[in-house]
Amino acid sequence: MTQTLTIIKPDDWHLHLRDGDTLQRVVGHTAARFGRAVVMPNLTPPVTTAMAAQAYRQRILEALPDDTTFNPLMTMYLTPSMSPQDIVEASKAEHVIGVKWYPAGATTNSSLGVHNINECTETLEAMAEYNVPLLVHGEVTDAAVDTFDREAVFVETILDPLLHQLPTLRVVLEHITTSQGADYVSSQGANVAGTLTPQHLLLNRTSLFQGGLRPHNFCLPILKRESHRVRLMEAATSGDASFFLGTDSAPHAQSAKESDCGCAGIFSAHAGIELYAEAFEDAGSLDRLEGFASKHGPAFYGLPLNTDTITLARESWQVPESYSLGQERLIPFRAGHSMRWSML
Ligand code: DOR
Ligand code: ZN
Repeated sequence: MTQTLTIIKPDDWHLHLRDGDTLQRVVGHTAARFGRAVVMPNLTPPVTTAMAAQAYRQRILEALPDDTTFNPLMTMYLTPSMSPQDIVEASKAEHVIGVKWYPAGATTNSSLGVHNINECTETLEAMAEYNVPLLVHGEVTDAAVDTFDREAVFVETILDPLLHQLPTLRVVLEHITTSQGADYVSSQGANVAGTLTPQHLLLNRTSLFQGGLRPHNFCLPILKRESHRVRLMEAATSGDASFFLGTDSAPHAQSAKESDCGCAGIFSAHAGIELYAEAFEDAGSLDRLEGFASKHGPAFYGLPLNTDTITLARESWQVPESYSLGQERLIPFRAGHSMRWSML
């Protein structure tokens, strides 16, 4: 049985770090494991310009522990007022890696997002021309569409027509949760990729109701039934370079999660690579972890591989029941449970 596993240092291609005190408290978990991370722009107010993204990146760098080489890669939040000129600026900004599309109302801090993507056609055309990737929260927001169907309906009725209109646009379907999403990404060319979270690889929708309502397993897109989880694991471990690691680690205060109207988001940065190691090991595919975690993402984004490595050891450790978040607490994924793999 493998006792240690050394891989090229991985990157997290989808991460929420927030700002201020929360940023200070969470960023070290990611910096201890990953070389780079794509940082989401859904702050209040959202990060909508290259200049705001650079300023946010500076705050992240200042919040980092000493002696880290962690490199935050930034995104801009798509709004109907983003212009082709904004895209030209994004394409020149060294650390801006893409534009994030939140359908308005789809998730946390998405109210300033896009109601109708046709309002953004010129901006998307500029993205195709200047080779700026579009990072997509792929869910329709129509109240008439069942929550569990929103990703599949989005892929069929919104994403596919968009890619027919702009076939060279580079697209990442973020946090894929369904077999339809995985099938779509694997059927497309090299300009279309997808990220997979640890929770969607490890849990299914029954985990939301295990012995009672489990708010800490609530994220968006919501967990789906087991057959979808199985398809996502197959995609992650297939060796297909279209799929790569994106934790979607999303810190919320305990009181905001355990509430009458609880927030969506699972904090997983404390075990951001260890969780995937468990999932891949359970599938008998530990040998595919390095491609998924460390190689496919850089290949899609046209970036070099990280030059250093990390080593995981088969040594169990206990996830804390919670972490401090100032006056609040942060409940991590697998709180109080043991993990099989440790970072050496
Ligand atoms: O569960 C989620 N939480 N899904 C998202 O799309 C956003 C994220 C957050 O920012 O909390
Ligand atoms: Zn996210």
